[in-house]
Amino acid sequence: MDALAILPKDLFAGEVAFVTGGGSGINFAIARAFARLGAKVVICGRTAATLDAAAEQIRALGGTVRTQAADVRDADALQVAFDEVRAAWGPVRHLVCGAAGNFVAPAEQMSPKGFRTVVDIDLIGSFNTARVAFDQLRETGGTVLFISGGQSFVPFMYQAHVAAAKAGVDMLMRTLALEWGRHGIRLNGLVPGPIAGTEGMARLTPKDKPDFWTDMVPMGRMGQPDEIAQMAVVLASPLGSYVNGALLTVDGGQNLTGSSRFNDSVGEMLVPR
Ligand code: COA
Repeated sequence: MDALAILPKDLFAGEVAFVTGGGSGINFAIARAFARLGAKVVICGRTAATLDAAAEQIRALGGTVRTQAADVRDADALQVAFDEVRAAWGPVRHLVCGAAGNFVAPAEQMSPKGFRTVVDIDLIGSFNTARVAFDQLRETGGTVLFISGGQSFVPFMYQAHVAAAKAGVDMLMRTLALEWGRHGIRLNGLVPGPIAGTEGMARLTPKDKPDFWTDMVPMGRMGQPDEIAQMAVVLASPLGSYVNGALLTVDGGQNLTGSSRFNDSVGEMLVPR
């Protein structure tokens, strides 16, 4: 079912949505959903070629899109990106902080730089982006969505860096919701479950077990990127007008089953180095 078709095609007409990590996976699906609902969409990521290919797909659907190559670890590069967007299209109304990194590694074998790299991308990158976007979001009465992860509240083995980063993202989101509500900005977090076809899942699934995650989901299936995107646009839209500081799981109930099955098999996911 094309659930987005329920919503008006001009829901976000005239509004600018900025999506970090928007070149692929869940964040690409979110960018595409904003575009389908009339927003002017900015996809931001590290690799220009990835962004260009994603932008082409959004244009093919009739969407309006621009690319801004920037690493969320670099606040100066983000400032340039937001300045360029404002000059071209006006201030950003919707921000999605989705850029993230992950790999599987036992904590005692993780270098301090490896741990810090994921915290830098996921947590500090989310802060950098929200901080740089603040002036524009205040002007528009904007919304922010942080993409979290189940690791923020259920410990998964070999995910110490992601757990620390995403738990930080959740509290950053709540703290900013408390501080920025008075500026008319709403912030929320979304916890995607196992979503088919994403790089994150490729890293967290044993090679010979494509159905690995379905057994851990009460609904008995993985999610689709569009099922995350649906909730992202609902939270950004007037349907979410009184939702602020909320963390929403969109995981088919996966978190209810815990992480022990994952922990039993995580050794099979280690990448030889
Ligand atoms: N096991 C252990 N350590 C690892 C690792 C692995 N599989 N992959 C990377 N690292 C460590 C590196 O060894 C390095 O530390 P060191 O110099 O002390 O050895 C550190 O992490 C940084 O790695 P580097 O490759 O230089 O960083 P990067 O900025 O190019 O890449 C990552 C960032 C590591 C997060 C990379 O996996 C990435 O780009 N991911 C983006 C895509 C992604 O993960 N998507 C899924 C999101 S859910």
